[in-house]
Amino acid sequence: MARTDHPPAAARATALPRVSAAGRSVAPGTRTEVIVASSPATTVLGPGGPGHEQVVLCQDRSSGLRAIVALHSTALGPGLGGTRFHPYPSEDAALADVLDLSRGMSYKNALAGLDHGGGKAVIIGDPRRDKTEALLRAYGRFVQSLGGRYVTACDVGTYVEDMDVVARETRFVTGRSEHSGGAGDSSVLTAYGVLQGLRASAERAWGSASLAGRTVGVAGVGKVGRHLVGHLVAEGARAVVTDVDAGAVQRVLAAHPGVEVVPDAAALVRADLDAYAPCALGGALTDEVVEVLRARVVCGGANNQLAHPGVADALAERGVLYAPDFVVNAGGVIQVADEVDGPVPERARERAGRIFATTQRVFAVAQEHATTPVAAAEHLAEERMAGVARLRDVWLPRG
Ligand SMILES: NC(=O)c1ccc[n+]([C@@H]2O[C@H](COP(=O)([O-])OP(=O)(O)OC[C@H]3O[C@@H](n4cnc5c(N)ncnc54)[C@H](O)[C@@H]3O)[C@@H](O)[C@H]2O)c1
Repeated sequence: MARTDHPPAAARATALPRVSAAGRSVAPGTRTEVIVASSPATTVLGPGGPGHEQVVLCQDRSSGLRAIVALHSTALGPGLGGTRFHPYPSEDAALADVLDLSRGMSYKNALAGLDHGGGKAVIIGDPRRDKTEALLRAYGRFVQSLGGRYVTACDVGTYVEDMDVVARETRFVTGRSEHSGGAGDSSVLTAYGVLQGLRASAERAWGSASLAGRTVGVAGVGKVGRHLVGHLVAEGARAVVTDVDAGAVQRVLAAHPGVEVVPDAAALVRADLDAYAPCALGGALTDEVVEVLRARVVCGGANNQLAHPGVADALAERGVLYAPDFVVNAGGVIQVADEVDGPVPERARERAGRIFATTQRVFAVAQEHATTPVAAAEHLAEERMAGVARLRDVWLPRG
C-alpha cells in the first residue's frame, strides 16, 4: 500500500515559478556556445542544447588528451566541479554526461550557498591505462586557458594526487592533497553531509532526527559509502551494505564487523530497510527499483540517482521521501570550495553541517507547494542564481 505524506501526482501543482535553469534570463531556444580549444588537431562538437553557457572540447594529440569542459552557469561565480575520467563509448556519450553533470553542479553549488556556478569536465579514456603526467598537465593547461571561468577538482576516476599534477599547469584547481596545501579527500565531508540529509529525512519521516535503531541500506561502500557506514554505526543505526567489489566490502567489515552484507543492490532495495542510501554510480533509482523499494526514505551520496526525472514523481506517489542527491552530497564540493580560499577544516565542516537545515527547507517548500523535493530544491537553487545574477545590473567602477 502506498504510504503518503506526499500528495498524489494529480494533486501536485506546478505552483513553483520556473527561473531560467542557468539562473539568468536565457531566451527560449538559446543555444550553447561551443568553443573548440585544441592542440594541434580540432574536432568540433555540435551545439549542446539550451541552458549551458559554454562547452569546450580540449584535444591534445601528443598526450592523447580528449576532454570536454562544460560550464552550465557562472551566475554565482566561476563554475566549480570535478573532472570525471571515464572510458566513454563515444564523444556523444561524454558530452551528454558532462552537460548533465555541470547542470547538476549549478544546483548543488547554489544550494550549498557557494559563490560558484556549475561546471564539470570529462576526460575520455581509461584512467588505469591512459592517465599520464603529460595528459594531466595538458588538461591543466586547457583549464588555465579558460582564465578562471572553470575551477576543476576530483571526480570518479581522478584523485587528489592527480589534481596535484594538474596544479602544475593551472591555478584554477582545487581538491589537492594535504601535503600540497589542499584539503585532501573530499569523500569524508561528503559522507558527513549525507548523514545530515539522512537526519533531516528521519525527522520529516518519523518525527525525530535520530537514526538510532533505524536500518539503512548502503549500496556502494567505496570512499563515500564506507565513511557513511562509520557514521551510521556511530549513530546507533543498523547498516546493510552491498558492493560489486569484494575488497570494498571486506574493508567495511574489518572496521565494522556488525554490518550485514547482501549480494547486490537488487537484494538491498528489497530488504526491510528504513532508509536506502545509493552511494555507487548514477541511475540507481529506476522505475523498477521504486516498485520494489521498501525503504521509507532515500538519501545517499551518489550523483544523478534518478534514472529519469519522472522517478521523483514515482517515489512521491509511493510515499517515499527522497532527499535530492544534489542537496545532500554537497559536502565534497563545500570542502573543495573552502580550499580555494586556503583550507580551514572546521569552517568546511560547519558549512557541510548546514546541509541538515537546507534539506529541512527543501522538504518544507515541497510540502508548501505540493510538489516533489526535487522540484522544490531546483526552485530554491534557481531563485538564488537568478537573484545573485541580477546584482550584475548594479554598476561598479572598473579596477
Ligand atoms: N567522493 C566525493 O567526495 C563525492 C562527492 C559527491 C558525490 N559523489 C558521488 O558518490 C558516488 C560514490 O563516490 P565515491 O567517491 O565513493 O566513489 P568510489 O569509486 O570510491 O565508490 C563507489 C563504490 O561503488 C561500488 N559500485 C559500483 N557499482 C556498483 C553496483 N552496481 N552495486 C554496488 N556497488 C557498486 C564500487 O565498487 C565502489 O566501491 C559517486 O556517484 C560520486 O559521483 C562523491
